[in-house]
Amino acid sequence: MTAAVAVLASGGGTNLQALMDAAGAGGEYRVARVISNRADAGALGRARRAAITVTVLRNPADPAELLAALGDADLAVLAGYLKLVPAPVVARFRWRMINIHPALLPAFGGSGMYGLRVHAAVLASGASVTGATVHYVDEAFDRGPVIAQWPVPVRAGDTPDALAGRVLAVEHRLLPTVAAELARRGFPPGVRLHPGGTAFTAGETPALDLR
Ligand code: GRF
Repeated sequence: MTAAVAVLASGGGTNLQALMDAAGAGGEYRVARVISNRADAGALGRARRAAITVTVLRNPADPAELLAALGDADLAVLAGYLKLVPAPVVARFRWRMINIHPALLPAFGGSGMYGLRVHAAVLASGASVTGATVHYVDEAFDRGPVIAQWPVPVRAGDTPDALAGRVLAVEHRLLPTVAAELARRGFPPGVRLHPGGTAFTAGETPALDLR
């Protein structure tokens, strides 16, 4: 059975696009709905061009409105969604709501840590490795159990923009891979996937093989 995915996005939606583009490959999931808190989100244009149902929330803090927008989705994916998910919705979608964050959580996460701020903080810290994280959503920003992470090297002379681009390319591989694997397994509690099989390549967009 193909899982119905609802994607929540506040911005341009390149992660949404990656999910849409990968959906046809294995057939594990399809993007059925796109939800935003912003009527001008680029993600909505991507959805409309693909004839996917879109909803703009009047009040993202209203659990009833968000639950209605999520409908019968099997999996909710936060892909650049900048609002806190109300606790009743987190409870209803326990083990069926995931978020992607452009750093190796728990480092460089939490309230206010989004966009270029994340990569600027990584560079300011002197870290030699950053990465992308997909985790379960709970009642706080970026705090739920980690499902999968993938490392991304920091290079000498990196600017926040350059690092963001390198991490985003990995996000676009990691998120669809995790969504498909969760759907394949039927969304059991507490899945944890580890880089396995294909070691991290020297390239910037590794062949993801998470087990
Ligand atoms: C991504 O970097 C994601 O990790 C973060 O927000 C950004 C969304 O980018 N949560 P896009 O809208 O998917 O291009």
